[in-house]
Amino acid sequence: MNIQAPTHNPHAGPRRVCAAIAGLAVGVLALGAGPDTNAPAGRLPDPDRELVLQGRYVYERNCQACHGRWGDGRGELARDMFPKPRRLTAGVFKYHTSPPGKLPTDADLERILRGGLAGTSMPAFVAMPDRDVRAAIAYVKTLSSRWHWATNHAPSMELPPVPGWMNGDSERVPHAASGAARFAVLCAPCHGPAADGKGPDAARLVDQWDQPAPPADLRQPSARSGPGPKDLYRAILNGIDGTPMASFAATTTEEQRWDLVAFILRRREEFARESNP
Ligand code: HEC
Ligand code: HEC
Repeated sequence: MNIQAPTHNPHAGPRRVCAAIAGLAVGVLALGAGPDTNAPAGRLPDPDRELVLQGRYVYERNCQACHGRWGDGRGELARDMFPKPRRLTAGVFKYHTSPPGKLPTDADLERILRGGLAGTSMPAFVAMPDRDVRAAIAYVKTLSSRWHWATNHAPSMELPPVPGWMNGDSERVPHAASGAARFAVLCAPCHGPAADGKGPDAARLVDQWDQPAPPADLRQPSARSGPGPKDLYRAILNGIDGTPMASFAATTTEEQRWDLVAFILRRREEFARESNP
Protein backbone atom coordinates (compact mmCIF):
# COMPACT_ATOMS: atom_id res chain seq x y z
CA MET A 1 0.00 0.00 0.00
CA ASN A 2 1.34 3.45 -0.92
CA ILE A 3 1.11 5.56 2.23
CA GLN A 4 1.44 9.21 1.49
CA ALA A 5 2.98 11.53 4.00
CA PRO A 6 0.34 13.89 5.44
CA THR A 7 2.62 16.86 4.78
CA HIS A 8 2.11 16.33 1.00
CA ASN A 9 -1.66 15.91 1.14
CA PRO A 10 -3.29 16.78 4.49
CA HIS A 11 -6.66 15.19 3.45
CA ALA A 12 -5.38 11.85 2.31
CA GLY A 13 -5.18 10.33 5.79
CA PRO A 14 -8.69 11.06 7.06
CA ARG A 15 -10.22 10.29 3.65
CA ARG A 16 -8.52 6.93 3.59
CA VAL A 17 -9.91 6.18 7.07
CA CYS A 18 -13.40 7.20 5.94
CA ALA A 19 -13.17 4.92 2.94
CA ALA A 20 -11.99 2.09 5.17
CA ILE A 21 -14.95 2.59 7.54
CA ALA A 22 -17.36 2.76 4.61
CA GLY A 23 -15.87 -0.47 3.26
CA LEU A 24 -16.26 -2.10 6.65
CA ALA A 25 -19.89 -0.97 6.86
CA VAL A 26 -20.63 -2.40 3.42
CA GLY A 27 -18.97 -5.63 4.49
CA VAL A 28 -21.11 -5.85 7.62
CA LEU A 29 -24.28 -5.09 5.68
CA ALA A 30 -23.42 -7.70 3.08
CA LEU A 31 -22.86 -10.25 5.85
CA GLY A 32 -26.20 -9.40 7.45
CA ALA A 33 -28.11 -9.76 4.20
CA GLY A 34 -26.51 -12.93 2.88
CA PRO A 35 -27.01 -16.46 4.20
CA ASP A 36 -25.38 -16.83 7.60
CA THR A 37 -22.85 -19.58 7.04
CA ASN A 38 -22.25 -19.83 10.80
CA ALA A 39 -25.90 -20.73 11.52
CA PRO A 40 -26.27 -24.26 12.89
CA ALA A 41 -27.92 -26.80 10.58
CA GLY A 42 -31.70 -26.59 10.68
CA ARG A 43 -31.71 -22.97 11.91
CA LEU A 44 -34.08 -20.95 9.73
CA PRO A 45 -33.06 -17.51 8.44
CA ASP A 46 -34.15 -14.58 10.62
CA PRO A 47 -37.45 -12.97 9.62
CA ASP A 48 -37.68 -9.60 7.86
CA ARG A 49 -36.63 -7.13 10.54
CA GLU A 50 -38.86 -4.28 9.36
CA LEU A 51 -41.94 -6.52 9.37
CA VAL A 52 -41.09 -7.71 12.90
CA LEU A 53 -40.71 -4.12 14.12
CA GLN A 54 -44.06 -3.22 12.64
CA GLY A 55 -45.44 -6.40 14.22
CA ARG A 56 -44.25 -5.32 17.64
CA TYR A 57 -46.11 -2.06 17.19
CA VAL A 58 -49.29 -3.92 16.18
CA TYR A 59 -48.82 -6.34 19.10
CA GLU A 60 -48.37 -3.58 21.68
CA ARG A 61 -51.62 -1.97 20.60
CA ASN A 62 -53.79 -5.04 19.98
CA CYS A 63 -52.47 -8.07 21.84
CA GLN A 64 -50.29 -7.07 24.78
CA ALA A 65 -53.16 -6.28 27.19
CA CYS A 66 -54.02 -9.99 27.17
CA HIS A 67 -50.92 -11.87 25.99
CA GLY A 68 -48.53 -9.74 28.07
CA ARG A 69 -45.60 -7.47 27.27
CA TRP A 70 -43.27 -10.43 26.73
CA GLY A 71 -45.86 -12.81 25.33
CA ASP A 72 -46.03 -14.81 28.57
CA GLY A 73 -49.84 -14.65 28.64
CA ARG A 74 -49.90 -12.38 31.67
CA GLY A 75 -51.33 -9.15 30.32
CA GLU A 76 -53.22 -6.85 32.67
CA LEU A 77 -56.57 -8.19 31.40
CA ALA A 78 -55.56 -11.85 31.78
CA ARG A 79 -56.09 -12.24 35.52
CA ASP A 80 -59.84 -12.90 35.49
CA MET A 81 -59.92 -14.34 32.01
CA PHE A 82 -60.83 -17.91 31.24
CA PRO A 83 -59.47 -19.68 29.26
CA LYS A 84 -56.24 -17.74 29.76
CA PRO A 85 -54.55 -15.99 26.82
CA ARG A 86 -52.00 -18.27 25.20
CA ARG A 87 -48.47 -18.11 26.59
CA LEU A 88 -46.85 -17.30 23.25
CA THR A 89 -43.36 -17.79 24.72
CA ALA A 90 -44.03 -21.54 25.06
CA GLY A 91 -44.44 -22.06 21.32
CA VAL A 92 -47.26 -24.59 21.86
CA PHE A 93 -50.49 -23.99 19.96
CA LYS A 94 -53.84 -25.73 20.08
CA TYR A 95 -55.53 -25.19 16.73
CA HIS A 96 -53.36 -25.92 13.74
CA THR A 97 -53.55 -27.96 10.54
CA SER A 98 -49.92 -29.14 10.83
CA PRO A 99 -49.27 -32.52 12.53
CA PRO A 100 -49.39 -32.85 16.34
CA GLY A 101 -46.51 -31.15 18.13
CA LYS A 102 -45.67 -28.97 15.13
CA LEU A 103 -46.05 -25.20 14.95
CA PRO A 104 -49.06 -23.66 13.20
CA THR A 105 -48.73 -22.50 9.59
CA ASP A 106 -49.06 -18.79 8.78
CA ALA A 107 -52.52 -19.56 7.38
CA ASP A 108 -53.51 -21.19 10.72
CA LEU A 109 -52.42 -18.10 12.65
CA GLU A 110 -54.18 -15.84 10.17
CA ARG A 111 -57.42 -17.81 10.57
CA ILE A 112 -57.26 -17.35 14.36
CA LEU A 113 -56.44 -13.64 14.15
CA ARG A 114 -59.15 -12.92 11.59
CA GLY A 115 -61.79 -15.21 13.10
CA GLY A 116 -60.98 -15.17 16.82
CA LEU A 117 -61.74 -18.22 18.99
CA ALA A 118 -65.41 -18.86 19.77
CA GLY A 119 -66.27 -19.01 23.46
CA THR A 120 -62.99 -17.34 24.53
CA SER A 121 -61.80 -13.75 24.86
CA MET A 122 -59.57 -14.08 21.79
CA PRO A 123 -61.14 -11.43 19.51
CA ALA A 124 -61.61 -11.51 15.74
CA PHE A 125 -59.46 -8.82 14.12
CA VAL A 126 -61.78 -8.49 11.15
CA ALA A 127 -60.83 -4.98 10.07
CA MET A 128 -57.08 -5.18 10.64
CA PRO A 129 -55.13 -4.32 7.45
CA ASP A 130 -53.49 -7.36 5.78
CA ARG A 131 -50.00 -6.02 6.33
CA ASP A 132 -50.64 -5.59 10.07
CA VAL A 133 -51.91 -9.17 10.29
CA ARG A 134 -48.77 -10.41 8.52
CA ALA A 135 -46.62 -8.24 10.79
CA ALA A 136 -48.35 -9.47 13.97
CA ILE A 137 -47.79 -13.07 12.82
CA ALA A 138 -44.10 -12.33 12.11
CA TYR A 139 -43.79 -10.85 15.61
CA VAL A 140 -45.57 -13.77 17.33
CA LYS A 141 -42.98 -16.00 15.63
CA THR A 142 -40.13 -14.19 17.45
CA LEU A 143 -41.58 -14.85 20.92
CA SER A 144 -40.50 -18.49 21.20
CA SER A 145 -37.20 -19.97 20.01
CA ARG A 146 -39.13 -23.02 18.74
CA TRP A 147 -39.88 -20.99 15.59
CA HIS A 148 -36.15 -20.83 14.70
CA TRP A 149 -35.85 -24.56 13.98
CA ALA A 150 -36.94 -26.26 10.79
CA THR A 151 -37.79 -29.50 12.62
CA ASN A 152 -40.65 -27.76 14.49
CA HIS A 153 -42.35 -26.73 11.25
CA ALA A 154 -44.52 -28.81 8.92
CA PRO A 155 -47.13 -28.06 6.27
CA SER A 156 -50.86 -28.75 6.72
CA MET A 157 -51.68 -32.45 6.90
CA GLU A 158 -53.46 -34.10 4.02
CA LEU A 159 -56.78 -35.49 5.35
CA PRO A 160 -59.05 -38.03 3.64
CA PRO A 161 -61.99 -36.50 1.75
CA VAL A 162 -65.31 -36.07 3.57
CA PRO A 163 -67.34 -39.21 2.66
CA GLY A 164 -70.15 -38.66 0.18
CA TRP A 165 -72.76 -39.99 2.66
CA MET A 166 -72.11 -37.01 4.96
CA ASN A 167 -74.26 -34.81 2.70
CA GLY A 168 -77.17 -37.21 2.25
CA ASP A 169 -79.56 -36.86 5.21
CA SER A 170 -80.85 -40.45 5.19
CA GLU A 171 -77.40 -41.99 4.73
CA ARG A 172 -75.97 -39.97 7.58
CA VAL A 173 -78.45 -41.36 10.14
CA PRO A 174 -76.95 -44.86 10.58
CA HIS A 175 -73.41 -43.43 10.61
CA ALA A 176 -74.36 -40.91 13.30
CA ALA A 177 -75.94 -43.74 15.31
CA SER A 178 -72.78 -45.85 15.25
CA GLY A 179 -70.81 -42.66 16.04
CA ALA A 180 -73.07 -42.15 19.08
CA ALA A 181 -72.34 -45.65 20.38
CA ARG A 182 -68.59 -45.11 20.07
CA PHE A 183 -68.84 -41.62 21.54
CA ALA A 184 -70.55 -43.06 24.65
CA VAL A 185 -67.49 -45.25 25.29
CA LEU A 186 -64.51 -43.13 24.14
CA CYS A 187 -65.62 -39.54 24.55
CA ALA A 188 -68.49 -39.29 27.07
CA PRO A 189 -66.22 -39.50 30.16
CA CYS A 190 -65.02 -35.99 29.26
CA HIS A 191 -67.54 -34.52 26.80
CA GLY A 192 -70.62 -36.12 28.43
CA PRO A 193 -73.08 -38.47 26.68
CA ALA A 194 -74.94 -35.46 25.23
CA ALA A 195 -71.66 -33.92 23.94
CA ASP A 196 -72.33 -30.81 26.04
CA GLY A 197 -68.85 -30.89 27.64
CA LYS A 198 -70.20 -32.04 31.02
CA GLY A 199 -68.77 -35.55 31.41
CA PRO A 200 -67.93 -36.99 34.84
CA ASP A 201 -64.17 -36.38 34.33
CA ALA A 202 -64.59 -32.82 33.02
CA ALA A 203 -63.99 -30.94 36.26
CA ARG A 204 -60.60 -32.47 37.03
CA LEU A 205 -58.93 -31.97 33.65
CA VAL A 206 -55.95 -29.59 33.42
CA ASP A 207 -53.84 -28.48 30.47
CA GLN A 208 -50.05 -28.34 30.22
CA TRP A 209 -50.13 -24.78 31.58
CA ASP A 210 -51.77 -26.12 34.80
CA GLN A 211 -55.04 -24.42 33.99
CA PRO A 212 -58.46 -26.11 34.15
CA ALA A 213 -59.20 -27.59 30.70
CA PRO A 214 -62.96 -27.99 30.24
CA PRO A 215 -63.88 -30.33 27.38
CA ALA A 216 -65.44 -28.54 24.42
CA ASP A 217 -69.24 -28.27 24.24
CA LEU A 218 -69.46 -30.03 20.88
CA ARG A 219 -73.04 -28.83 20.26
CA GLN A 220 -71.80 -25.29 19.57
CA PRO A 221 -72.09 -24.19 15.94
CA SER A 222 -68.42 -23.23 15.55
CA ALA A 223 -65.52 -25.38 16.66
CA ARG A 224 -62.31 -23.60 17.63
CA SER A 225 -60.41 -26.10 15.52
CA GLY A 226 -62.07 -24.77 12.37
CA PRO A 227 -65.36 -24.39 10.53
CA GLY A 228 -65.76 -27.68 8.61
CA PRO A 229 -66.29 -31.43 9.22
CA LYS A 230 -62.60 -31.97 8.36
CA ASP A 231 -61.60 -29.79 11.31
CA LEU A 232 -63.58 -32.04 13.69
CA TYR A 233 -61.97 -35.08 12.03
CA ARG A 234 -58.51 -33.55 12.54
CA ALA A 235 -59.17 -32.87 16.23
CA ILE A 236 -60.17 -36.54 16.70
CA LEU A 237 -57.20 -37.80 14.65
CA ASN A 238 -54.51 -35.54 16.15
CA GLY A 239 -55.89 -34.41 19.49
CA ILE A 240 -55.31 -30.83 20.66
CA ASP A 241 -51.75 -29.94 21.69
CA GLY A 242 -51.28 -28.88 25.29
CA THR A 243 -54.69 -30.20 26.40
CA PRO A 244 -56.12 -33.53 27.66
CA MET A 245 -57.81 -33.98 24.25
CA ALA A 246 -55.63 -36.88 23.08
CA SER A 247 -55.18 -38.34 19.61
CA PHE A 248 -57.59 -41.14 18.70
CA ALA A 249 -55.53 -42.15 15.67
CA ALA A 250 -54.61 -45.52 17.19
CA THR A 251 -58.00 -46.34 18.74
CA THR A 252 -60.34 -45.51 15.83
CA THR A 253 -60.44 -46.29 12.10
CA GLU A 254 -61.01 -43.67 9.42
CA GLU A 255 -64.66 -44.74 9.07
CA GLN A 256 -65.22 -44.62 12.83
CA ARG A 257 -63.80 -41.09 12.96
CA TRP A 258 -66.25 -39.91 10.26
CA ASP A 259 -69.07 -41.63 12.18
CA LEU A 260 -68.05 -39.61 15.25
CA VAL A 261 -68.07 -36.43 13.14
CA ALA A 262 -71.56 -37.34 11.90
CA PHE A 263 -72.72 -37.74 15.51
CA ILE A 264 -71.25 -34.35 16.50
CA LEU A 265 -72.97 -32.67 13.53
CA ARG A 266 -76.26 -34.32 14.56
CA ARG A 267 -75.89 -33.01 18.13
CA ARG A 268 -75.26 -29.53 16.71
CA GLU A 269 -78.46 -29.65 14.66
CA GLU A 270 -80.49 -30.97 17.60
CA PHE A 271 -79.08 -28.27 19.87
CA ALA A 272 -79.83 -25.52 17.33
CA ARG A 273 -83.45 -26.77 17.15
CA GLU A 274 -83.74 -26.96 20.97
CA SER A 275 -82.38 -23.40 21.30
CA ASN A 276 -84.61 -21.93 18.57
CA PRO A 277 -87.80 -23.98 18.55
C1 HEC B 1 -58.97 -9.77 25.00
C2 HEC B 1 -57.85 -10.70 25.10
C3 HEC B 1 -57.05 -11.06 23.89
C4 HEC B 1 -56.52 -10.23 22.93
C5 HEC B 1 -56.66 -8.73 22.84
C6 HEC B 1 -55.78 -11.08 22.02
N1 HEC B 1 -55.85 -12.39 22.41
FE1 HEC B 1 -54.97 -13.96 21.51
N2 HEC B 1 -55.86 -15.23 22.82
C7 HEC B 1 -56.65 -14.85 23.88
C8 HEC B 1 -57.10 -16.02 24.58
C9 HEC B 1 -58.00 -16.04 25.81
C10 HEC B 1 -56.57 -17.14 23.91
C11 HEC B 1 -56.69 -18.63 24.27
C12 HEC B 1 -57.94 -19.29 23.76
C13 HEC B 1 -57.96 -20.78 24.03
O1 HEC B 1 -57.17 -21.29 24.82
O2 HEC B 1 -58.76 -21.45 23.40
C14 HEC B 1 -55.79 -16.60 22.81
C15 HEC B 1 -55.06 -17.38 21.92
C16 HEC B 1 -54.21 -16.88 20.95
C17 HEC B 1 -53.36 -17.68 20.11
C18 HEC B 1 -53.19 -19.18 20.19
C19 HEC B 1 -54.05 -20.00 19.27
C20 HEC B 1 -53.70 -21.47 19.39
O3 HEC B 1 -53.87 -22.19 18.39
O4 HEC B 1 -53.23 -21.95 20.43
C21 HEC B 1 -52.66 -16.80 19.32
C22 HEC B 1 -51.62 -17.15 18.28
C23 HEC B 1 -53.09 -15.47 19.65
N3 HEC B 1 -54.04 -15.55 20.64
C24 HEC B 1 -52.59 -14.32 19.07
C25 HEC B 1 -53.06 -13.05 19.32
C26 HEC B 1 -52.61 -11.87 18.65
C27 HEC B 1 -51.51 -11.83 17.60
C28 HEC B 1 -53.34 -10.83 19.14
C29 HEC B 1 -53.29 -9.39 18.69
C30 HEC B 1 -53.39 -9.10 17.28
C31 HEC B 1 -54.22 -11.36 20.17
N4 HEC B 1 -54.02 -12.71 20.24
C32 HEC B 1 -55.08 -10.61 20.93
C33 HEC B 1 -56.96 -13.55 24.25
C34 HEC B 1 -56.64 -12.41 23.54
C1 HEC C 1 -59.67 -36.91 28.55
C2 HEC C 1 -60.80 -36.11 28.16
C3 HEC C 1 -61.26 -36.13 26.72
C4 HEC C 1 -61.65 -37.23 25.98
C5 HEC C 1 -61.68 -38.69 26.40
C6 HEC C 1 -62.05 -36.70 24.69
N1 HEC C 1 -61.91 -35.36 24.66
FE1 HEC C 1 -62.34 -34.13 23.10
N2 HEC C 1 -61.66 -32.54 24.12
C7 HEC C 1 -61.24 -32.57 25.44
C8 HEC C 1 -60.85 -31.23 25.83
C9 HEC C 1 -60.34 -30.82 27.19
C10 HEC C 1 -61.07 -30.40 24.70
C11 HEC C 1 -60.85 -28.90 24.62
C12 HEC C 1 -59.46 -28.54 24.16
C13 HEC C 1 -59.39 -27.04 23.99
O1 HEC C 1 -59.78 -26.57 22.92
O2 HEC C 1 -58.96 -26.37 24.92
C14 HEC C 1 -61.57 -31.27 23.64
C15 HEC C 1 -61.85 -30.83 22.36
C16 HEC C 1 -62.43 -31.61 21.38
C17 HEC C 1 -62.75 -31.17 20.05
C18 HEC C 1 -62.43 -29.80 19.45
C19 HEC C 1 -63.56 -28.83 19.62
C20 HEC C 1 -63.25 -27.47 19.05
O3 HEC C 1 -63.93 -26.49 19.46
O4 HEC C 1 -62.35 -27.34 18.22
C21 HEC C 1 -63.36 -32.22 19.40
C22 HEC C 1 -63.90 -32.23 17.98
C23 HEC C 1 -63.38 -33.32 20.32
N3 HEC C 1 -62.80 -32.93 21.50
C24 HEC C 1 -63.92 -34.55 20.05
C25 HEC C 1 -63.74 -35.66 20.86
C26 HEC C 1 -64.17 -36.99 20.49
C27 HEC C 1 -64.95 -37.33 19.25
C28 HEC C 1 -63.74 -37.81 21.48
C29 HEC C 1 -63.84 -39.31 21.55
C30 HEC C 1 -63.32 -40.05 20.42
C31 HEC C 1 -63.07 -36.99 22.48
N4 HEC C 1 -63.10 -35.69 22.06
C32 HEC C 1 -62.53 -37.48 23.66
C33 HEC C 1 -61.15 -33.67 26.26
C34 HEC C 1 -61.43 -34.96 25.88
